This record gives sequence, structure tokens and C-alpha cells, in this order.
Amino acid sequence: MKHRFVAIGLLLAATLAAARTQSGGGQGASVEACRVERLRLQPAAASDIGSLGTPPEHLNAAEVEATAACLAPALDAVLASVQDQVLRGAEAWAPMSKAYRGSEHGMFLQVYANEAAAASYRKYEQGAAIPLGGMVLKRSFRVAADGKAEPYALFVMARMQPGFSPDTNDWRFALIGPDGRTVGATNGPDDAKVRYCAACHATARRQDFLLFVPPGLRL
Ligand code: HEC
Repeated sequence: MKHRFVAIGLLLAATLAAARTQSGGGQGASVEACRVERLRLQPAAASDIGSLGTPPEHLNAAEVEATAACLAPALDAVLASVQDQVLRGAEAWAPMSKAYRGSEHGMFLQVYANEAAAASYRKYEQGAAIPLGGMVLKRSFRVAADGKAEPYALFVMARMQPGFSPDTNDWRFALIGPDGRTVGATNGPDDAKVRYCAACHATARRQDFLLFVPPGLRL
């Protein structure tokens, strides 16, 4: 299984790199520096660096939490800068998980749900299908070998009207770069770039395509 996840990580990195080049390379809003101090003093060895440049084994839970807290304004700014019309309509995002090291996406992640989705999502495996207008997203950030942390992509699932996309259980998957630009979305011009999302999430067909973090990470 592991090689499949690495391949997906590389695909994602390539997709986002291409999106950044198109948009002129800018990170947008200037971001206050967040750094894992221990890695600044003693950078991770090259052999410990993951496929996306992150040295995940080198962050303990407290460091992940502190880095997420430091980056919170920058991560809010990414969400505020999105151009995606569906996502712009969402309000009242609430965290559904702690920040954690992603297994499938190769970076650090935190799950959020909007008001329409939160009540069902919080029941996890026991929850009913997310209602129309419900959205769940994952914020993400990366940490370089020298400890420097920066916001990364947003992974979004939005529940659309019945018939929108039978293959994806009427979920609209969207991948949004750290500059707020949409890289791809279900039924959008770059639909092909997000088909792999639904392919993996379809393994959870019986629970509305939701895969959920392990219980220890839930809030
Ligand atoms: C190889 C499998 C895989 C692929 C591909 C994948 N995901 Fe996920 N996704 C997961 C897993 C597993 C979780 C559960 C949380 C975690 O482990 O991070 C998850 C969780 C999520 C969540 C939180 C809702 C939930 O299911 O609990 C969103 C939103 C999400 N993914 C969006 C996306 C988007 C958008 C893409 C494509 C750009 C994508 N995912 C591609 C495996 C995948």
C-alpha cells in the first residue's frame, strides 16, 4: 500500500507545483515565519525527509500542535483567499480533529466542517449522510528539513444537489493551492485532476465516502 501513497504524494506535489508556476510563483499574503526550533538547530537528515520535503518522523505531537497554532493566521488567510465559488459560500468552520501527520496526503493536516456538515460529521461512522450544502475540508501545512513551516493545499468535499455527480455520491471534490487557486474540482474544467480523490474515498461508500481520522485524533 505504501508505494501507492508515495505515488499519490508525488502526483499532488507535481500538480501543485504546476499550479504555482502558472500563478507567477507568489505565495500571496506575507506569512509570519513559523519554525520548529529544534529542526532549525539540528536539521533533519536528508534520509529522513519524505517525498514532499517534510520530515514527519521528526515532529512529535507537541511540535505538530505548536506549529499548527503558529500557522493558524496564515491557514485562515489561505481559506479567506479562495476563489472557488462553492467554498466561498461556506460559513462557520469548526475543527473536527487535532492537527496530525497525514498518512495518505503526505503532510500535516487538520479536518474542519462547516455548520451544515458538523452535526452529522461529528457522529463519524454512526452519522447520517451529510446534507446539501455541507462541506468538509482538510487544511494542510508542510515543514521543511530546517523546521520552516508553511501552509499547503486545501482538500475540500462539498455536498451538492442530487444528480450532480452520481459517481462521487454527489460530492464535489476540490483541490486548492496555498495561493487560493483551484487546481481541480469535480465537474469543473480540471475534473481529471481530482478523480483520484473520489477513487480512494469510494472505498468508504457505505459511510458517505467519508474516511475519518482515527478516534484518538477526533475532537
Ligand atoms: C489514497 C487515498 C486518498 C486519496 C487519493 C484522497 N484522500 Fe482524502 N482522505 C483519505 C483518508 C484516509 C482520510 C481520513 C483522514 C486522514 O487520514 O487524513 C481522508 C479525508 C479527507 C477529508 C476529510 C473528510 C473525511 O473523509 O473524513 C477530505 C475533505 C478529503 N479527504 C479530501 C480529499 C481530496 C479533495 C482529495 C483529492 C485532491 C483526496 N481527499 C484524496 C484518503 C484519501
